[in-house]
Order: sequence, then C-alpha cells, then structure tokens
Amino acid sequence: MESDTTYWRDLALLDWQVDLGADEAIGETPVDRYALEPAAPKPAVTPEAAPSKKTPPPVVKTPEIDAVAVAKAAAEAATDLPSLAAAMEAFDLCEIKKGARSFVFCDGQPGARVMIVGEAPGRDEDRVGKPFVGQAGQLLDQMFGAIDMDRAAEDAAQAIYITNVLPWRPPANRTPEPDEIAMMLPFLERHIALAAPDIVVLMGNTPCQALLGRAGITRIRGQWTEVLGRPTIPMFHPAYLLRQPIAKREAWADLLSIKAKLKGLP
Ligand code: URA
Repeated sequence: MESDTTYWRDLALLDWQVDLGADEAIGETPVDRYALEPAAPKPAVTPEAAPSKKTPPPVVKTPEIDAVAVAKAAAEAATDLPSLAAAMEAFDLCEIKKGARSFVFCDGQPGARVMIVGEAPGRDEDRVGKPFVGQAGQLLDQMFGAIDMDRAAEDAAQAIYITNVLPWRPPANRTPEPDEIAMMLPFLERHIALAAPDIVVLMGNTPCQALLGRAGITRIRGQWTEVLGRPTIPMFHPAYLLRQPIAKREAWADLLSIKAKLKGLP
C-alpha cells in the first residue's frame, strides 16, 4: 500500500516538473543556464558561401560571333580582287566550307564589261575550282557566245566575268540558306565594286534574293534595275533553261537587251 502511494506521488512530481518546462533529462548534476555565457551568433551564410552542392555550376557563355560583321570587316579591308579572294577563302564562319572540296572565286576577265552572278558551285565546279563549268556552264557560254561575248576574250568589250553568291558547294547542291547568303553578301558586294563591271547579270533567284532582296525570277527577269549603282538584269538560270527549254525565248530577249544596253552605255 505504501509503495503505491510513493509511485503516485513521484509521478505527480514529474508531471509538475514537465509543466515547469523541465521535460528533458540531460545530466546528473543541475546546470544554471542563466549563468552561462551567451552563445556566439552563427555567421550569416551568403549565397556565394553557401554549400556548392545545390548551386549549379556557372554557365560559361561563349560570346556570339556576328558572322556578317566579321565578313563586312574582312571584305572592306580587301583593296583588290586577289586580296578579296584571300579574305574570302580564309573566312571560316560559313559551315558549308567544311564540306566543300574547292574555293570557287571567279572565272573570265576581271576587267569585263559584264559580270555574271550565279548561285553556288555544283559538283563539277567543286571539282575544277571554277564557276559554271558543268552543263549549265556550257549553256551559259553558248548564250553569251550568241551575243559575241566569251569568258576567254581578252578584250573587255567582249569579255564576261563570272562569280557566285557562295564560293563553296552546298551539300547535295541544296539551295543556300538565308544566313549563308547574308554572311557572304559583304564579299559579293565588294567583289562587284572591285570588278567594276558596266552591267551585272543575276542568274536565277539566289543572286536576286541576295542583291535585290527579292526573288520571283519569272516575274522580275528582263527588268532592268540597279545594284551598287550599276545597271542590273535578272535572267533565268541556265540550269532552269536546261529543264525548261521553252524559256530560252525569254533568255534570248534578255541577251538582246544586254547587248543593246552595252551599246547605249559610255
Ligand atoms: N550553278 C551556279 O549557279 N553556279 C555555278 O557555278 C554552277 C552552277
């Protein structure tokens, strides 16, 4: 009976201490916590000093290269056709360069009155390193031969000078992409300025898009316009004429128009 009373009394004492806040058994001897030194405050953790586990590694951004600006600076620095060719050949920002065998710059006479601008080298041009040497090139020679002009002529009055929008063959002869055209355009414009022809002939949609900012060759062919202050005429591309011989009639009209324009120019 006695032990029962002690048990209930001790339990009541413990309850009372818990009510006072003494709810944890820490040590054998009591500690006067009011007499202790206050703990030093923990240093604040700055975001930089925070453990790196949760912080993703910093993203190192490579600065974006402006290919058009690089091309512009390189083209403007060229003072003649050989230095322009060297600057173009050294230009590494056009991806198609990697897949091409040759750098195709020009053919014909640099002092010619007529400068022809095509699209890009094809398989034959990539192999030989000169523009318009395949089937389409042979037709081009015949077309200009019909108005007494020839890429091999020494006399500037009879000569033609030939280049392309792109100096490298696109993979599988695909059409040049707008960004490829844009980054090679400063070189093409400089090429025209340095060759200084009396007349520019644009063969097909790609050079029209590059130099006139519009395509639609069926509508715009035969209509004289200007590129860098020089009389310019869009024509059907010889490769198109090989597929659509019926369109040779319009091409002939354009050739006669070129002949007449040359006669009328000083
Ligand atoms: N087509 C072009 O536009 N250019 C070439 O050099 C050959 C084919």
